[in-house]
Amino acid sequence: MLEKKMKEDKFLAKIETKNDTLSKEFGRILHTFEEIRIQENGDSRPPDLFILDVGNDPEDRLDRFYPLFQSTSIGEVFVTSPMAESGIILKAMRAGAKEFLPQPIDAADVKQAVKGFIARREQMRASSPVSPGHLINIFGSKGGAGATTIAVNLAVTIAQEDSFSKVALFDTHSRLGEIPLFLSFTPIFDWSEITRDIDRLDDTFLMSILYKHTSGAYVLPSPARMNNYLPLTPDVVDLLMNAMRRLFDVVIVDTGNPLNETSLKMFELAETNLLISIPSMPYVVRTGRILDSLRSAGYQSVRAKIVMNRCTKHPEISLKDAEAALDRKISGLIDNDYPSTMSAINQGKTLEWVAPGAEVTKNIRSLASGFVGLKKG
Ligand SMILES: Nc1ncnc2c1ncn2[C@@H]1O[C@H](COP(=O)(O)OP(=O)(O)OP(=O)(O)O)[C@@H](O)[C@H]1O
Ligand SMILES: [Mg+2]
Repeated sequence: MLEKKMKEDKFLAKIETKNDTLSKEFGRILHTFEEIRIQENGDSRPPDLFILDVGNDPEDRLDRFYPLFQSTSIGEVFVTSPMAESGIILKAMRAGAKEFLPQPIDAADVKQAVKGFIARREQMRASSPVSPGHLINIFGSKGGAGATTIAVNLAVTIAQEDSFSKVALFDTHSRLGEIPLFLSFTPIFDWSEITRDIDRLDDTFLMSILYKHTSGAYVLPSPARMNNYLPLTPDVVDLLMNAMRRLFDVVIVDTGNPLNETSLKMFELAETNLLISIPSMPYVVRTGRILDSLRSAGYQSVRAKIVMNRCTKHPEISLKDAEAALDRKISGLIDNDYPSTMSAINQGKTLEWVAPGAEVTKNIRSLASGFVGLKKG
């Protein structure tokens, strides 16, 4: 893992040439820099440094590779050519090349250029620290509490309200999680791709697995079949959440209701833990037991906020009694509205879509407003 981390920290360089001798010459020089790693076959991360050999046909090659210069995912482009006339150099620089390296290449010149590249990139890294995204763990106190309804609608509402924030929704269920049903899509990938090959986990791999919903939220579904997938362990959750928080401003997790090592890990990692309850005896009792379990497992259960779902005018247990029984304040209330929530599920649409004016939708909007504008600095 350490090796993987070090690999990720290095700047990735790609040498684009049909000339093997030239490729080896550049390779030898780049290898002298420990900050740089040369792109291998199968490396999907876009390079930080792209060295483009435009050979003896610079005009044509510069035109053909023009989109590359415009790409925001590629760091810097160096152009090299045996034809070093001023017109060609000017064209390369105007396209956006950072350096022009005439051939035959001069090792000292190339080293100087690479040093400049490393200095600029390191400066960029230092001046733009990426603060981790905000992780919201949605935990059902008991089956049917409304964890999935709240996770899905919260994610979609935040994504729609805040177009600057990147929002992700992750379904940790071991199988047959219901998020695809709630959002009416058929998943191609799910998190078993990640547990199967955790060493491959990088930004490109993760983004290739996520499904983009029309609201803008990115979804990582749970396995839909009983295939031989590897489970989510606390270590995998740790790595995966790290990766997701690097990419997204808000990560919402539908953890369901199992109390195990993996869900405890989620409680530990999350900035916000929402414990979903219902003002009725079995749910309130179970909510109390979960708080006790968290406390005895050494987790700061104080950080878990209670959201009472399916609230009616005359609940089976009054909110005052529930607060007294749980010895804590209730942080959020969501109206009981079975027709709206069921109609949303049946249509595979969000509450915003099927019942924009309903109290339940307003309650979710108000819960979401606490997580809007969390764009990473
Ligand atoms: N605010 C609400 N008012 C009325 N019904 C609701 C509300 N929230 C959820 N429901 C209904 O409760 C049922 C369970 O909801 P949901 O699937 O979201 O719960 P869950 O905690 O994810 O359940 P599971 O344990 O099966 O994962 C659904 O039929 C849903 O329509
Ligand atoms: Mg659920």
